[in-house]
Amino acid sequence: MRKKPQVRTAAATAAAPAAIVRKLTLEQKARLLSGASFWTTAEAPGVPSVFLADGPHGVRRLAPDVGDIEGAVPATCFPPAVALGSTFDVDLVRRVGEAVADEAQRRGVDVVLGPGINIKRSPLCGRNFEYVAEDPLLAGEIGAALVTGIQGNGVATSLKHFAANNQETERMRVSADIDERTLREIYLRGFQRVVTRAQPATLMSSYNRINGTHTGEDRRITTDILRGEWGFEGLVLSDWGAVHDRIAGIRAGLDLEMPAAGEGRVKEIVAAVRSGALDLADVDRSATRVVTLALAAQAARGEAPPLAERGHDPEAWHDTAHHDLAREAASRAVVLLKNDDGLLPLAPQTRLAVIGELARTPRYQGAGSSQIVPTRLDDALAAIKDSASDVVFAPGYELDGTRAVTGGVTGSGGETGAPRRGPVGKLWKRSEAAARAAEVLAAEAVATARDAGVVLFFAGLPQSAEAEGRDRTDIELPAAQLDLLDRVLEANPRVVVVLSNGSVVRLSGFADRVPAIVEGWLLGQAGGGALADVLFGRVNPSGRLAETVPLRIEDTPAWPSFPGTGLHVTYGEGIYVGYRWYDARDLGVQFPFGHGLSYTTFAYSGLGVSTGSTRGKGSADGKGVTDGGDLVVRVTVTNTGGVEGREVVQCYVSLPGSAVPRAPRALAAFAVVDLTPGESREVELTVARDDLAYWDVRADRWRVEGGTYRVEVGASSRDLRATAEVEVPADGFVAPLDADSSLGEAMAHPVIGPTVTGMLKGAGLSADVMVMTRAMPLGRLAYQPGSGVTHQQVQQLLDVANGTGSLANRATGRLLTLAGRLRKHR
Ligand code: BGC
Repeated sequence: MRKKPQVRTAAATAAAPAAIVRKLTLEQKARLLSGASFWTTAEAPGVPSVFLADGPHGVRRLAPDVGDIEGAVPATCFPPAVALGSTFDVDLVRRVGEAVADEAQRRGVDVVLGPGINIKRSPLCGRNFEYVAEDPLLAGEIGAALVTGIQGNGVATSLKHFAANNQETERMRVSADIDERTLREIYLRGFQRVVTRAQPATLMSSYNRINGTHTGEDRRITTDILRGEWGFEGLVLSDWGAVHDRIAGIRAGLDLEMPAAGEGRVKEIVAAVRSGALDLADVDRSATRVVTLALAAQAARGEAPPLAERGHDPEAWHDTAHHDLAREAASRAVVLLKNDDGLLPLAPQTRLAVIGELARTPRYQGAGSSQIVPTRLDDALAAIKDSASDVVFAPGYELDGTRAVTGGVTGSGGETGAPRRGPVGKLWKRSEAAARAAEVLAAEAVATARDAGVVLFFAGLPQSAEAEGRDRTDIELPAAQLDLLDRVLEANPRVVVVLSNGSVVRLSGFADRVPAIVEGWLLGQAGGGALADVLFGRVNPSGRLAETVPLRIEDTPAWPSFPGTGLHVTYGEGIYVGYRWYDARDLGVQFPFGHGLSYTTFAYSGLGVSTGSTRGKGSADGKGVTDGGDLVVRVTVTNTGGVEGREVVQCYVSLPGSAVPRAPRALAAFAVVDLTPGESREVELTVARDDLAYWDVRADRWRVEGGTYRVEVGASSRDLRATAEVEVPADGFVAPLDADSSLGEAMAHPVIGPTVTGMLKGAGLSADVMVMTRAMPLGRLAYQPGSGVTHQQVQQLLDVANGTGSLANRATGRLLTLAGRLRKHR
């Protein structure tokens, strides 16, 4: 693969762009702030246009003015984010990113619009297939790996959708109402991780509002947090058509509006500057960022794209190495959920019945803007036939008019087409005929399955069930498939269910009645071969669930509030998203976060945790964590089975007895390790000290509590094999006390704490009175009947605490008096 110059960020190239912008007229600057077409930015003297294209699991190169998938240049369709998340393999994902960048360059694309890393708040979100995980650390790690891979190969990325775009219902108007701690710890944290680790060249602001304000108009989100706290150096662009108030957006830091908004917008910006409603400095700043991106893209651009030569012939664009990489990534994404009695892997001579149209007509990517035209399309049925000698097939059911766009690649599945019209009688006859046809298909499938050694039952969601722009209303598999599965199971219980879905489906109706379940997600163009690789054991499965499979939708954290009412959706579950919720409520789940089986087994031993070196990683505005070291976690993993395999070692951290409510455990690090039978290896994981921090709402900053942290290591969030404890020192940061601080907080204060504690203890208060006393705000002391404490004395105490005074005897004396009175009172 050709190595391209890294995408340069604003800091490296700021001088030249600023000089270019200085020479532009106001109109020219204003024109730079919107697209020139659907996919390009505007030109100006010395400023080339930039070509943007969707992805990120492939390159969707369209003509500049075409918004629809028709006519896209074929590209390798790598596994979508739902599958990449399940690999838990950042090196592999980085390699996918490098390949995507390579293809982008060959197609003349400067910016790939991705990755999308929004948290899967509810399985109902119609776009979950484009997102990575229900956990911010995993989403951030996989997102950072993609950005590093793509940008390391000379193409810019656009991290999206910033932020809290967790549903499709009313996506352009809904307000995600989220408390600050939840926003920081769950919904912004993945973005923070990608920005601080991989510095994406651009970031796409989302359609929705957060707490009432459109994200692109929210200066706090788009500038103060993003740039001020995280140090983002790139450009912020709008999601397509997301701009609500352009002038407010420019003020807030939304640099580029996409797509083209026309000359009317230029006039609006110019008029706003002339009237004084908009600062010229804001226009200059955003224009400079557009120029910076354009110059960096120009510098990184490869040779002119040979689009015309190759046209739209998928074969002409086919890249065997990339197809192989797509297959490798897909095989690593497959999650073996259940495998009783070692039914899998299959022996090539087993008599196999493959049931289900999805085996022949794969669903391999989601619908909407991320959909790309693949260069080839493998189906599982053909790959299974290549792997085994005795294979029979029956489609069993029809897909509902959802054959994926294949751009010249032909499939052989069924389609129902457009709704039929006509008199009611005719309609009834037609539905009767359709029912008869469905029964013929089903009966044929049951007969086909009856005598097989193993039945591979392909089930999954039709494309119409999950797509950009709409949410699901349930997590059920189609009833026809479930009915057929019941009948097949009656005929032959040796069934392996192979799933195709972009977000979790309910399995509880049959999970305990089938011996094996393989979660195949949406696996991209090489998914068919990858599934066969796993089914026949050429690849030992190592995919892990990046989202919990619940027993039922009613158990899921956002169920009561999703998708909101009156254009507001309340994130009432707070930080308890995904496994944090099920663990906190001690709820049963079908399969937990992090779960995935292998054809071998692994043992864990020798867990040890130490605190590493101090890093001093403060942010510019002091809201970062500044003290102490990372945790270094070492554990020995042994392959105790008979075949080579890969374990995904997961490390979860918690702080029992924390001063704030916390999830029972949170993923803090993970790593993959490949082991031959009998082999042992020590795996080292680093838990960044920053990842121990919680968002302190009162102090308005991250904070690491001191204490004894519990470190759990294992094969899933509910298969924890070893536990250790480690002492973590608190941050040096001491929250200033004020009149609203409680006596309890004063007791915990490092400067005045010992004195105040000693005083109150010395006063001999009963335990009950002590509880009430601790809760009293310091400022109220002056109002306690007969306390004798004055406002001035309270202020003296605060001055001492905050380092601006010395401990005054009179103040402490008065406090003593108060304590005495309180005791008499009760
Ligand atoms: C989507 C984005 C996409 C953009 C351009 C929007 O509708 O939300 O993810 O990048 O369109 O196609």
